[in-house]
Amino acid sequence: MKHLPFLVHLFFLLCLGLSLTTRCAGDVQFIFSGFTGANLTLDGVAAVTAGGMLELTNGTLQRKGHAFYPAPVPLRGAAGPNATTTTAVESFSTSFVFGVMSDHVGLSAHGMAFVVAASRDFSSALPSGYLGLLNVTSDGDTGNRLLAVELDTMQNDEFRDINGNHVGIDINSLHSLRSYSAGYYNDDDNNNGFRNLTLISGEAMQVWVDYDRETTRIAVAKPKRPLVSARYNLSTLLKDVAYIGFSAATGGTLRSRHYVLGWSFGLGRPAPAIDITKLPKLPRTVSKDRSRILQITLPLATAAFLLTVGAAVFMLVQRNRRYSELLEDWEIEFGPHRFLYKDLFHATEGFKNSCILGIGGFGKVYRGVLPMSKSEIAVKRVSHGSRQGMKQFIAEIALVASNTATLCNYLAIVSAEVNFS
Ligand SMILES: *[C@@H]1O[C@H](CO)[C@@H](O)[C@H](O)[C@H]1NC(C)=O
Ligand SMILES: *[C@@H]1O[C@H](CO)[C@@H](O)[C@H](O)[C@H]1NC(C)=O
Ligand SMILES: *[C@@H]1O[C@H](CO)[C@@H](O)[C@H](O)[C@H]1NC(C)=O
Ligand SMILES: *[C@@H]1O[C@H](CO)[C@@H](O)[C@H](O)[C@H]1NC(C)=O
Ligand SMILES: *[C@@H]1O[C@H](CO)[C@@H](O)[C@H](O)[C@H]1NC(C)=O
Ligand SMILES: *[C@@H]1O[C@H](CO)[C@@H](O)[C@H](O)[C@H]1NC(C)=O
Repeated sequence: MKHLPFLVHLFFLLCLGLSLTTRCAGDVQFIFSGFTGANLTLDGVAAVTAGGMLELTNGTLQRKGHAFYPAPVPLRGAAGPNATTTTAVESFSTSFVFGVMSDHVGLSAHGMAFVVAASRDFSSALPSGYLGLLNVTSDGDTGNRLLAVELDTMQNDEFRDINGNHVGIDINSLHSLRSYSAGYYNDDDNNNGFRNLTLISGEAMQVWVDYDRETTRIAVAKPKRPLVSARYNLSTLLKDVAYIGFSAATGGTLRSRHYVLGWSFGLGRPAPAIDITKLPKLPRTVSKDRSRILQITLPLATAAFLLTVGAAVFMLVQRNRRYSELLEDWEIEFGPHRFLYKDLFHATEGFKNSCILGIGGFGKVYRGVLPMSKSEIAVKRVSHGSRQGMKQFIAEIALVASNTATLCNYLAIVSAEVNFS
């Protein structure tokens, strides 16, 4: 037990209020204590390491990785001539032990998810905040037939994430149906007893996901009290068979790795208990020295980069039909570099989707041409007030500046908006 200092107790109860003819569930039950010889279906950068860990992402930026149980799971019981689509999705239960590592302490990267999906083709899904599950156009589409339990390590304003360390129940969209700050309720504490956990701590944590077809309640936590709960009729979402597995993605800035150490599943029965002493051990990747170097060089590198490429920083505050501007604290430090929102708006043709260069951790990057100087620019839209995001962005500029010259043809512009809603 010593090598698993923290266990997240997340319990996910999905229940369906349908009483139907008892039928024999397709006999799917498995347990993997390590994944050597597991024959999972892998794609992207996912791989099974020599030590038997399922490595969903390997530290390379802007990548996604998926791993699925090789056979589709007959969710509505045994498929056959008498199986009908009106049959309720069978109860299931799963548990897994995972770990997310970041190269830089305190700076989060993107998360991962347990997935139940109609298809295991995620080739057009995006990495970063989309977790390798969806893309700009497919997010929210009811045709996705996707249930995901996200272990999200970054706050994405576009998905209205509650913070940069949460567990969410996602139906067809990364805008979670319900989410809660990562942690668990300790059974031994009689008064509430909530304990925080940091998903990106690099520690192994265990999650339980249970679905019970007797009610329509969705809940996350373990052992007794759910961390997150909601109601959703899964029979309307999933077809007769579905693929079960994991998805993870990295962003464009910070190197992170996502691992699964053990996984069990039961259809119509409890998932077998995972013996955590038999699992492979997570690598210790967090280098304290490295993070200290980053902290020291960051302000310098950022300033140097800002000067070199002439970065412009801009933020819009719309109030009483007038434009007034706020100086951010980091801006005071580096001096204001501003363009008018109007100019950026025109440069990117009104932040048109066709101008999107890429999607970063917390905002979209648009290509544009400044009307006056005809300079080519890249504009990143972030929310004013997203301190985490700004910190991340500054870090991103610093890393880009120190690693590559790819941005040198562009001006880096931060366009921050105030959300009044
Ligand atoms: C769940 O969905 C199924 C299929 O659409 C429907 O037959 C059933 O009544 C729904 N159950 C509840 C409790 O709403
Ligand atoms: C991650 O995997 C990809 C594809 O398998 C490979 O090209 C890349 O070099 C790997 N990155 C690291 C850091 O190992
Ligand atoms: C691995 O899974 C595939 C299906 O994805 C199956 O065809 C193959 O027989 C399996 N191999 C072994 C060794 O189980
Ligand atoms: C399908 O249902 C019919 C009538 O209820 C029954 O006779 C038959 O054995 C069933 N077939 C299968 C494969 O279960
Ligand atoms: C988004 O994903 C959907 C479904 O996977 C795909 O059909 C569509 O082409 C993708 N859109 C983009 C812009 O890649
Ligand atoms: C747990 O984390 C939340 C959100 O970060 C914070 O508001 C709360 O104070 C923390 N609780 C404890 C006991 O640390």
